[in-house]
Amino acid sequence: MSSTHPEIEKRKTFAIISHPDAGKTTLTEKFLLFGGAINTAGAVKRNKANQSNTSDFMEIERQRGISVATSVMGFEYQGKRINILDTPGHKDFAEDTYRTLSAVDSVILVVDSVKGVEEQTLRLMEVCRMRNTPVIIFINKMDREGKDAFDLLDELENSLHISVCPLSWPIGQGHTFKGIYNIYQNQLNLFEANKSKVTAPLIQAKNLDDDVLKSHLQPAEVDKLKYELEMVEGIYGRLDKEMYLEGLLCPVFFGSAINNFGIRELLDTFISIAPGPASRQTEQREVKATDPAFTGFVFKIHANLDPNHRDRIAFLRICSGKFERNKFYYHTRLGKKLKFANPMDFMANEKSLVEEAWPGDVIGLYDSGNFKIGDTLTEGENLQFKGIPSFSPEIFKEVENRDPLKTKQLEKGLQQLTEEGVAQLFVQQPGNRKIVGTVGNLQFEVISFRLEHEYGAKCAFRTLSFSRSKWISSKDKNALQDIIKRRASHIAHDKDGNPVYLGDSDWAINLAKQDFPEIEFHATSDFMG
Ligand code: G4P
Repeated sequence: MSSTHPEIEKRKTFAIISHPDAGKTTLTEKFLLFGGAINTAGAVKRNKANQSNTSDFMEIERQRGISVATSVMGFEYQGKRINILDTPGHKDFAEDTYRTLSAVDSVILVVDSVKGVEEQTLRLMEVCRMRNTPVIIFINKMDREGKDAFDLLDELENSLHISVCPLSWPIGQGHTFKGIYNIYQNQLNLFEANKSKVTAPLIQAKNLDDDVLKSHLQPAEVDKLKYELEMVEGIYGRLDKEMYLEGLLCPVFFGSAINNFGIRELLDTFISIAPGPASRQTEQREVKATDPAFTGFVFKIHANLDPNHRDRIAFLRICSGKFERNKFYYHTRLGKKLKFANPMDFMANEKSLVEEAWPGDVIGLYDSGNFKIGDTLTEGENLQFKGIPSFSPEIFKEVENRDPLKTKQLEKGLQQLTEEGVAQLFVQQPGNRKIVGTVGNLQFEVISFRLEHEYGAKCAFRTLSFSRSKWISSKDKNALQDIIKRRASHIAHDKDGNPVYLGDSDWAINLAKQDFPEIEFHATSDFMG
């Protein structure tokens, strides 16, 4: 394969992320409509648990069904193959979102113009910054009475600790919303509330002095727009594409997803500036998308919805080379060769058999228990991809077996569910106590429901007082043994046997840091190497 390859250059793989309700699903659907991948609104179901009733198991199952269908949505647009990776909106599934972000090359962050930066916006952006993922921001719901555009930009910069550069600018807002000026292309697009049409008619102006402006806007609106654009130019300057690609600067667009407004500008700019398949780090070396040999990693595992079929779907991101159906690949953790007769490709929300796939693509592999999240496939080289960390859970409960005759089933179920990434399993000594750690309460309901229905095991959860956890390491092995011994009741081991310090507050963790200065405390498991 040459240094560039048309199949690799064609691909743009990204995720749309947002705080729930900001408009992620609506925007995803509009992208698919623009790409001609679907032709009716409503085709993309909302992928979020019913937040008012978290005990609704049917809802959990429904969610699992939807998220299998919408995990990856591929479509062609302007000669590019676009892969949108879906992320769950509900905060209890945040870990799933973080892992999915390891498989994308860029992100579009949706912010609600009325609410501004919200809790999930902050967390998601932190994850993007950890990996220097390029982010474009879409400020949605401009048809509603929201915050002032300059205030929103300030809020983004101050609370997300990033620089922004608006590429479009709103004229009015809410009931006075008239449209946006496309700074990137020097065009005016006038707003027309229109939920059904894919392409709202655009009225274009050459520049701010074009007469067409005066025929559609009041003189005061034209003056205000000119004044604001001068300020925008003065404060934010022009887009520095390199800074965007390094994850330091976020281009910002304004619009209204439900009304198809501002979507085309966003999608066209995305196509022209968003990065293609990026290089990825392994423990051994950097893998470039253009490397000739095939490599890929599993970032998500989905259990079969039918409890009688234990098989699962492992989602594999291809990082280099060409993946081919029915060819043997090397599973580096297990040290064995596997071939896949029915790999799946996802176009829009349809699954189909795929013969070959390229860097940037995500394919689904039927799995009977070979895969864990983070597993690597190669053509024989011993590689292990990095950057799919476990994040510190915040809720910890001890597992109590309620049916001693089903101990084996319980152990197997817990192991498989944690391999799928539903939650993290820790073991504490003495007594091999099993502790489940999650970021949300919903997971415990998912676990006990699925343990009972899929594995026939019954368990109860005993709440522990811990609410913080940090992976610990030290260059000084004796110091590490010392803390493990002296703070035994605060220490558990993760699935790979790494020690984790559990505390009941940030304050307690800080105190432990002072007491054990030789020890390093890490927020994710990805600190090694
Ligand atoms: P999410 O995936 O980020 O959770 O958000 P989603 O797209 O489901 O949108 C959340 C709500 O915001 C939906 O309303 C949706 O119609 C609305 N919405 C999306 N874009 C816009 C916009 O540009 N302007 C306005 N005013 N609303 C927008 P809902 O009432 O919760 O659901 P639905 O009954 O409309 O589906």
